[in-house]
Amino acid sequence: MSHNNFYITTPIYYPSGKPHMGHAYSSILADVFARFKRIDNFNVHFLTGTDEHGLKIQKAAEKDKSDTLVYCNKISKTFKDLSVKLNLSNNDFIRTTEKRHFASVNEIWNRLVTSGDIYLSTYKGWYSVSDEAYYNSDEITDKNGKKVSTFSGSPVEWMEEESFFFKLSKWQDKLLEFYEKNKDFIHPITRRNEVINFVKGGLKDLSVSRTSFTWGIPVPNNKKHVIYVWLDALANYLSALNFPNINDKLYKTFWPASLHVIGKDILRFHAIYWPAFLLAAKIEPPLRIYSHGWILSGDEKMSKSKGNILNPLEIIAKYGIDQLRYYLMKEVSHGSDGNISLINLEKCINSDLANNYGNLCQRVFSFIKNNCKSRVVKNKNLSKEDLNLISKTNKLTINLKAFMNNNDLNNYIKSTIEISFLTNKYINDEEPWKLKKTDIDKMNNILHLCLEQIAKISILLNPVIPIATTKVLEALKVSSKSKNLSFIKNNAIIDNDITLGDLNILFQKIN
Ligand code: MSP
Repeated sequence: MSHNNFYITTPIYYPSGKPHMGHAYSSILADVFARFKRIDNFNVHFLTGTDEHGLKIQKAAEKDKSDTLVYCNKISKTFKDLSVKLNLSNNDFIRTTEKRHFASVNEIWNRLVTSGDIYLSTYKGWYSVSDEAYYNSDEITDKNGKKVSTFSGSPVEWMEEESFFFKLSKWQDKLLEFYEKNKDFIHPITRRNEVINFVKGGLKDLSVSRTSFTWGIPVPNNKKHVIYVWLDALANYLSALNFPNINDKLYKTFWPASLHVIGKDILRFHAIYWPAFLLAAKIEPPLRIYSHGWILSGDEKMSKSKGNILNPLEIIAKYGIDQLRYYLMKEVSHGSDGNISLINLEKCINSDLANNYGNLCQRVFSFIKNNCKSRVVKNKNLSKEDLNLISKTNKLTINLKAFMNNNDLNNYIKSTIEISFLTNKYINDEEPWKLKKTDIDKMNNILHLCLEQIAKISILLNPVIPIATTKVLEALKVSSKSKNLSFIKNNAIIDNDITLGDLNILFQKIN
């Protein structure tokens, strides 16, 4: 894969209930990275989808009194619709019930058999259907008379059945070597340490097939078994590139994946099982896994089983999608859990979007419309104040790529909004309205620099708030070719002689 290609994925979602804010968060995060890489000249492939096999889904369909596939079709569609509502720029949407996925899972299974990594035995132990995960006895506690996983709090049940096993124990040292060589594989660093400690603690072989239900991909040559849903699910990242056809253009261009965005609850599967499966199957592991924290409601993880869900669709309908995206990306700290609330959402919309960026655009555009017939011509050398603003802006933009490459969206957004703040201050100090009668050239220059600043901020914020910034860039006549990071430092994004298009209010203030 050339360094100019970037393959990014969201987790694929269980269609076991309605999508909620946690799902929206994973997806928006990945979308912001995808959009950023596009304006940074990368050839991006962005994948999302649904994870449709396993007991959890079979049970959900039974509860719904539906045929399992009919049920999956119905709920998978709600996730697809959500991806549109979230304004995701995904290139593909994969469902694990699709034919292309079966081919890829079969190939991985066969490779694991050939490499001698799979054997038949019996699984005896704890299983959580809600997590679709096996737990050791020391990972279980009692809660209100019920056995639950200490890690997730989900109920577990005792399970005994014939099962194929993957020789995970064999890969312990190889995995540790792999983490050592690939220091960037797990982000953020705290999660990396967690994984390394867990692996150092010893890995047991992993049960990778089930016999007590049928909703899954059958084990090749042994139809009594279906493949464990996590082995099935992880393979989606390859299926979408037309694996096992390794000569396929998508596979050749985009594998190994550049970034799997996931929540911290599914880190073990991605950072331990996935590279182990891949190393055993002689496929290169992905380059990075970014594990984000949880969206909390009070002190608890927001989840369907806890019934504390903020519905993303209701929030989008009331406040707008750019607003929700901006709030989640700015306020939930890099890699940590974040408590979200409507009060803070409203505060954030008012302070950053309505009063800062939105106001900057509105005041400059309406002044130019009302006083200059929408036309501004840059015609003077830059003043000391102009140069000062440009240099402060450059300083703030220097670290932006590094923030993004470190998956640190909070600092990326904070720096960008700071540019907007500085530009508002510049207008207040320069008072272009006072120059209308005395020095129209200088006034034009000031306005032109403001427009240039607005163009920069809009390009930089485009990955986060695509709808509003696209309107602004269109009104500034910035072509889609110039909507690119490489133009930021030149201070020449917009034409010297520019006639603005119309711009309506971008963000309504919430009272
Ligand atoms: N199907 C698996 C993923 C397979 S990927 C090969 C799965 N699905 S899920 O629907 O339960 O969760 C999908 C993603 O949503 C996970 O990254 C999970 O962390 C995220 N979230 C679910 N609830 C969440 C919060 N309350 N907060 C933030 N994200 C959480 O796991």
